[in-house]
This record gives sequence, C-alpha cells and structure tokens, in this order.
Amino acid sequence: MRIIFIGPPGAGKGTQATKIVERYQIPHISTGDMFRAAVTAGTPLGRKADEFMKAGKLVPDEVTIGLVRERIAQDDASKGFLLDGFPRTVPQAEALGGALDEDGLRLDAVLLLEVPDELIVQRITGRRSDPETGAIYHIEFNPPPAEVADRVTQRKDDTEVAVISRLDAYHAQTAPLVPFYDARSVLVRVNGVGAPAEIAERITAKLG
Ligand code: AP5
Ligand code: MG
Repeated sequence: MRIIFIGPPGAGKGTQATKIVERYQIPHISTGDMFRAAVTAGTPLGRKADEFMKAGKLVPDEVTIGLVRERIAQDDASKGFLLDGFPRTVPQAEALGGALDEDGLRLDAVLLLEVPDELIVQRITGRRSDPETGAIYHIEFNPPPAEVADRVTQRKDDTEVAVISRLDAYHAQTAPLVPFYDARSVLVRVNGVGAPAEIAERITAKLG
C-alpha cells in the first residue's frame, strides 16, 4: 500500500496516520517529524530547516525531495509507505511520481483530510506531544494522561502567528495538489471534522 496524506496543518494527519500504518504494517514517513528530529540533533539539515519551520514556511523543494527519495529507497519502504506531509508542492509531487515510475510503482491513494480553517488554530495551539513516545495530544480534545502530562511539549511552530503562515503556505502551495491528483484518479476526500475514531472509520471505509 502506497498512501499519501495531504491536508492543512492540524487537520489530524499525524493522529490518523498512526492508526493506518498499524493496520497496513507500513512505515509512517512524516517529513515534518524528520525535519524536527534533524533540528533536535543539530545536523546541517536541521539548521537549514529550522528557520523555515519556525516562520511557518515550506523548506525548499531541493532539500525535501532529496530527503524523501533517500527515505523511500530504504528496505522497510519496499512494500509500501504512508507519506505524511509530502508532497506539499507540485514539483515535489512530480519528483515523487518520477521516482515511482522509475521503479514501476504506483500510488494506491492520496487521502485529502478536509478541515475548515476556522477549526485549525484551536487544534494547533492546543496540541501537545510526548517527546518519549511521539504520541499526539490536545489539551482539550485529547488530554494527555496524568503520568505523561508533566513531560509533554509544544512545537515551536504551533503559535498563532506561525499557523497563519502555515495556512497561507497550504492554500498557495499545497492546495494545487488536489486537482493534480484528482486528474490522476487517486484522490480520496475524507471529512476531517468529528471525533478521531469516527474519522478513522471513514478512512477505513474508503481505503477498503
Ligand atoms: P508538519 O509536521 O507536516 O506539519 P503540518 O502539515 O503543519 O501538520 P501538523 O503536523 O501540524 O498537523 P497534523 O495534520 O499532523 O495534525 P495532528 O494529528 O498533529 O510540517 C511542519 C513544517 O515542516 C512545515 O511547516 C514545513 O516548514 C516543514 N515541512 C514538512 N514537510 C514539508 C514538505 N514536504 N515540504 C516543505 N516543507 C515541509 O493534530 C493536530 C491537533 O489536533 C492535535 O492536538 C490533535 O490531538 C488534535 N486533533 C486531531 N484530530 C482531531 C479531531 N478529529 N478532533 C479534534 N482534535 C483533533
Ligand atoms: Mg503532523
């Protein structure tokens, strides 16, 4: 199974991806997580990505495309993968298509998680993550359990100011992927409003 997850910031891609990868036993490849790991490790990639991420801007295509090409060439991705947050621009989508074509592979589905902008700021500013397990929580919608509550952290780009830039980047640079993949008959639209379990059921019903 080769799946792409697209949707605005805070749509619930990470939350739902965890469930999908368990079900299909495929690696969860999140470019955002890869960049954050590089920032924490202080690598040259991390130093480059950090300034863009903090400002809510996309990391340049030439950096991102190389990173993903290397990642999907690894052994664990040979039977499939779920890409969360990539591609995010038309050149990224074209590069991915080219890489898959070279290997005679195709995408099974491009899931578009649809959530209106009005709900995004609240989802993003209330998000907390467990640095030990990577689990995603929300102070109101999915509060961390007591034993985890003291160690949860907030992402540096989860401020109201950065969210506005991230939404702008989504509409300007990522939304064109919707007609791009629709024209290739792989786009699957999923309503991302509702309880996470309900949304997981919608995804399962559509993926089969
Ligand atoms: P990335 O990490 O991909 O961030 P994003 O796309 O902005 O998405 P998020 O991770 O913020 O949201 P999500 O959809 O995963 O939602 P979540 O499940 O956590 O990218 C970060 C940055 O890295 C980018 O801005 C860019 O700089 C760079 N980058 C990454 N990929 C790139 C690329 N390909 N090209 C260039 N640059 C790139 O949920 C959010 C919150 O809502 C949580 O608190 C959760 O508990 C809650 N929640 C989830 N579902 C529900 C629900 N159904 N109801 C209520 N609350 C919910
Ligand atoms: Mg995410």
